[in-house]
Amino acid sequence: MTGAHEDDAVSLPTWFARQAPDVSRETTDSADSDEGFAPGDDSPVGRELWETEQLRRRLEDSEFPRPPRTRVITVSNQKGGVGKTTTSVNLAAALASRGANVLVIDADPQGNASTALGVEHRSGTPSIYEVLLEETPLARVVQQCPDIPTLWCVPATIDLAGADIELVSMVRREFRLHDAVNELLAGPGKDLDYVIVDCPPSLGLLTLNSMVVAGEVLIPIQCEYYALEGLTQLMKTVEMVKKHLNPAIHVSTIVLTMFDARTNLAREVAAEVRGHFPDQTLEQTVPRSVRVSEAPSFGQTVMTYDPTSSGAVAYLAIAREIAARGATGTAVAETGGQQ
Ligand SMILES: Nc1ncnc2c1ncn2[C@@H]1O[C@H](COP(=O)(O)OP(=O)(O)OP(=O)(O)O)[C@@H](O)[C@H]1O
Ligand SMILES: [Mg+2]
Repeated sequence: MTGAHEDDAVSLPTWFARQAPDVSRETTDSADSDEGFAPGDDSPVGRELWETEQLRRRLEDSEFPRPPRTRVITVSNQKGGVGKTTTSVNLAAALASRGANVLVIDADPQGNASTALGVEHRSGTPSIYEVLLEETPLARVVQQCPDIPTLWCVPATIDLAGADIELVSMVRREFRLHDAVNELLAGPGKDLDYVIVDCPPSLGLLTLNSMVVAGEVLIPIQCEYYALEGLTQLMKTVEMVKKHLNPAIHVSTIVLTMFDARTNLAREVAAEVRGHFPDQTLEQTVPRSVRVSEAPSFGQTVMTYDPTSSGAVAYLAIAREIAARGATGTAVAETGGQQ
């Protein structure tokens, strides 16, 4: 363990109890007030700023219900650069900023989620590699994120680059993460509300491990040409995992990322995705935003880097939708996998 847990590998529950604000497990939609704020001008930018501010105020007053059980969500799409990492870290930070206990597992050798969450992940740092290959308990490699006390990260280092191949010859090769997460949730991580796994852009053993442990799959889709390319293969993989390895898994959520409402293409892609997946696709989309792409270079999520920006407010709204769905049971997940 590092950071706050340096000297005590089983102190997570105590830490959580001390840090987590008392958040109601009930859903309430509070009315919003737009007093004292009006659009500065009628330009599209002025309008957008005004709408972002309205949404931010609504979210400020609304509650984020905590799930009855830990939800394990894997963020997956073998297509590269669609917003998997950005969605993983900002969703996690948004949920944690509203009091949930959230663990992000970086399962990508690129280590981008570890960078964005500001945790140490130089080669040799205890990481997900040791968990998968050497059966080191997750609690020993978890780091607390510097900006949000209820947000935690299992880092990935470049050591993970060979893991897809190294895992091939190991026993229970598809269940390594499942076993580690269940051990954590049965002990020091029992108060975790969410475990979010950031997958690499492939359908190899790292992604498979993350699907075997998950109750839910969240698929980010970038609203651009070729957006749906590869989605059939991803769905087939989820079905295969469901049939043979983890009956609990299902695609619960689709997030439309880098959405630019001014382009016909983005609107068409969004309409097509909603047509195919009406129940899974979230109402809220993520706008293309410079602040979102800048944040990782400061070792931060956009939630702390610029909490009033359109990207941060969008991810907060996404977190609210996901939390509300879990609370009403439409997408409640249990930890997946079968022994
Ligand atoms: N809403 C957004 N606005 C602007 N830039 C964004 C947004 N979302 C993601 N990006 C940028 O797009 C790039 C790809 O995003 P990200 O790394 O999250 O994708 P990924 O699917 O995790 O990629 P990989 O497949 O390599 O793991 C990054 O440079 C990121 O900063
Ligand atoms: Mg990524």
